[in-house]
Amino acid sequence: MRPLRTAYSTIQAYDTDECVGIRPTGEARHDHLGIDGWAAPREKARRSSPCRMAHLVVARSTSIQRAARAQPEDPMYRPSYRRHTTHDSAPSPRASWPQVIVLANRGPFTTELQANGSIRVRRAAGGLVTALVPLVQKSSVTWVACGASDSPSAGEGSGLDVRGATGAHRLRYVCLPDDEHRGYYYGFANQGLWPLCHALHVQPVFRSGDFHAYRRANIRFAAAVADEATCASPLLLVQDYHFALAPSELRRRLPLSTIVTFWHVPWPPALVLESCPWAKELLDGLLGSDIAGFQTSQDCENFLDSVERLVGADISRTDGTATYRGQTTRVRAYPVGVEWDNDVVRTTPPAPVCAESVRGDLGLPSDVKLGVGIDRLDYTKGITEKFLAIERLLEDHREFRGRFTFVQVAEPSRECLPEYQLAREQIIATAERVNARFGAGANVPIVLQLSHYEPAEVYRLYRAADVCYVGSLRDGMNLVAKEFVLARHDERGVLVLSEFAGASEQLQAALLIDPYSVDASALARALTMPDVEQSKRMRIMRATVARFDATWWAERLLADSWSLRWSQPSPDRHARAEAQVSA
Ligand code: G6P
Repeated sequence: MRPLRTAYSTIQAYDTDECVGIRPTGEARHDHLGIDGWAAPREKARRSSPCRMAHLVVARSTSIQRAARAQPEDPMYRPSYRRHTTHDSAPSPRASWPQVIVLANRGPFTTELQANGSIRVRRAAGGLVTALVPLVQKSSVTWVACGASDSPSAGEGSGLDVRGATGAHRLRYVCLPDDEHRGYYYGFANQGLWPLCHALHVQPVFRSGDFHAYRRANIRFAAAVADEATCASPLLLVQDYHFALAPSELRRRLPLSTIVTFWHVPWPPALVLESCPWAKELLDGLLGSDIAGFQTSQDCENFLDSVERLVGADISRTDGTATYRGQTTRVRAYPVGVEWDNDVVRTTPPAPVCAESVRGDLGLPSDVKLGVGIDRLDYTKGITEKFLAIERLLEDHREFRGRFTFVQVAEPSRECLPEYQLAREQIIATAERVNARFGAGANVPIVLQLSHYEPAEVYRLYRAADVCYVGSLRDGMNLVAKEFVLARHDERGVLVLSEFAGASEQLQAALLIDPYSVDASALARALTMPDVEQSKRMRIMRATVARFDATWWAERLLADSWSLRWSQPSPDRHARAEAQVSA
């Protein structure tokens, strides 16, 4: 395991707007826990008190009902969607949890040791962090995450604590022994569950050693959560496929807690899940939750099918519940969103300025159309297939040769796994081939950037682009699609979106594609779409992205958990338990 390298002074020297105090055992050092857009000044925190949040939820839920009546054709209000989403239950204004603990493999930021010995802090990649950060900004949480990566912030023993001086946020890192981390994260989570849940043509690898490491790690994380609990009945928010076994373990350790598990990736059909030798254990673990949240109504259906078929749980499709070993789990869709009121969007220059500067950087004349793709480098994202569609465009439409450039950002991810190395080779080889066929000198159709882009740079690309292409072969939600819509307050630009991304359930006004078919018609249509049509589509999508934003997601989860807690048979047992703990 790597030694503890992080020091308060080195972090302070780094380029976040505000500073973070990191100490081996955690102590309040600073006004804000400031990681890129994640600063919570005292005043902002005060204005976002739980009481105010509860009022916001009531207001939002009323406006949602109003909108549902006004727009029955909106996909959000299709009967299948409404069956699993809970827009209607107004939460109690007393929605003030004694404590909220998030359990997620990724912490909100990553740290990287620089050549000069200082440490670079960046917001972590992926939709999970994007979705959770606004929740953390707006309520007081403890975040328990894995510290056993290559990060220089990984410490020994019980890991690191990071705390803002407001006392509002706390980070607890759990460090796993190397072999356990390999089996849990690279092995079972990313070579087993990741391909299984995405149900692609990449075969999951199930090794018993990995599963045992996964189980050990889940128990270790659950112990850290229990150790962080300062009351008997906290709200526990368990995140994603890294922690399928944690809910039942947490139920055992903190029987009075309310456990909400959110699965950020797709839930596979029962027949696919069955191929996992430990499918029953996974379901048994997840059914320790009070609420199991998914991205789409299809995921909810698949989950209910799975628990009925594989462990014989009693399910009600009408109520969206599964009862197993005396515990009832509510199964709900909470599509994650992006932060509508977002500092980066606010400070990004207007679209024409971005277009000019990006074209200037790339050396492109103003009449060249620009496409963008922003993905983690992952075989689920369909980047190679996207390049094949670009190749087809240039084959079929001569008018775009030398007149279309596509900037693809692909942030490397899980690089030590062979599947990711292969995906990287294919992506590079395809881009080079297409560029060799259709490029001329420095003017190439595909500009491939295999690196991390900071949010400000990503939003500059979104604003500059004529088209954003999201070609996931399968995706839980895909927040890039929503970020592009969020960025385009000029109501220009066209979103080409895979029908296999969860986001397509909400963003039906995008140009929906089958990413497997090597077909350039959507791209050609996007590049020639009249302004009026662009604007009409963008306006519809912006209304949805604004309404179901990250705040809606977080508030919905908190509100549903709260109403569940108070609808349980003996709410006063919680009060008694709390009294016992504080006595
Ligand atoms: C997806 C997963 C997240 C994960 C992210 C980045 O969005 O749902 O749980 O954090 O990818 O992947 P990584 O393995 O780098 O954390």
